[in-house]
Amino acid sequence: MVAKVISGPEVAEEIRKELRVKIAQLKERGVTPGLAVVLVGEDPASKQYVRNKERACEDLGLYSRTVLLPWDAPEEEVLKAVDTLNADPAIHGFLVQLPLPNHIDENKVIMRIDPAKDADGFHPINVGRMLIGDPLFLPATPHGIQEMLVRSGNDPEGKHVVVVGRSNIVGKPVAAILMQKKKGANATVTVCHSRTRDLASLVRQGDIVVAAIGSPQFITADMIKPGAVVVDVGTNRVDDPTAKRGYRWVGDVDFEAVKEKASAITPVPGGVGPMTIVMLMKNTVIAACRAAGIDHCPPA
Ligand code: GUN
Repeated sequence: MVAKVISGPEVAEEIRKELRVKIAQLKERGVTPGLAVVLVGEDPASKQYVRNKERACEDLGLYSRTVLLPWDAPEEEVLKAVDTLNADPAIHGFLVQLPLPNHIDENKVIMRIDPAKDADGFHPINVGRMLIGDPLFLPATPHGIQEMLVRSGNDPEGKHVVVVGRSNIVGKPVAAILMQKKKGANATVTVCHSRTRDLASLVRQGDIVVAAIGSPQFITADMIKPGAVVVDVGTNRVDDPTAKRGYRWVGDVDFEAVKEKASAITPVPGGVGPMTIVMLMKNTVIAACRAAGIDHCPPA
């Protein structure tokens, strides 16, 4: 079997089309949704993510702002930037790009964000609301994974989803979202991680495998059940002297081998990445809609 490649940009474009309608309605009421990102330091992956976000805002006609702070900025300065965005009516949603430098307490910064402007859905109030099935905002990457599965005809309903990785950004929330008693969810979820015994045999049981370990090509073809659907969340930069830039991006899945065994697979790049960005845009539109007091805001 050769897997169907699920295109992130194609699914993202479908969602962008839906968002354009909502954005036009907001603009008729004089509201331009605004998204801000706080970036501390110069991490190359983070800078790329921020550039992509700026481009996506421009494309959809959203107001976008990037607050750049030096890597050695004291924690107080980062908290002050959060306070300023919390109070700014032009900003409907914002996020603080992670990871933060070690001298800054990540949880303290996240907890300072107004939950109503928490475009990432990382505030404990939003994590709790996601878990109980009454979300205000869903985190962008896991929500993007769910949309990709459903819109590509791979609804997780009743399936065994094996998540590899337990981060707060992907592993834990994707498990929480897909296990909900809801349309587009209702999956049986297993979460594996670095301390899991006999990880390969568990992954082999997955009808859907979500790879979010952060280790290049960790998931090999022998770990995949024939016909499984494979979602690759990895973005690992590996040296490649033959590439123009001297490096290339690879996922957590051995794409070439796994695509011969899976029924569907997301590539890297061109898979989950574009979905994360569009779901962030969606959260910004939802936040603006709620702030404008519009009745029929899209659900999270
Ligand atoms: N770093 C990697 N992914 C993310 C994300 O989704 N949000 C934030 N804030 N930082 C990240």
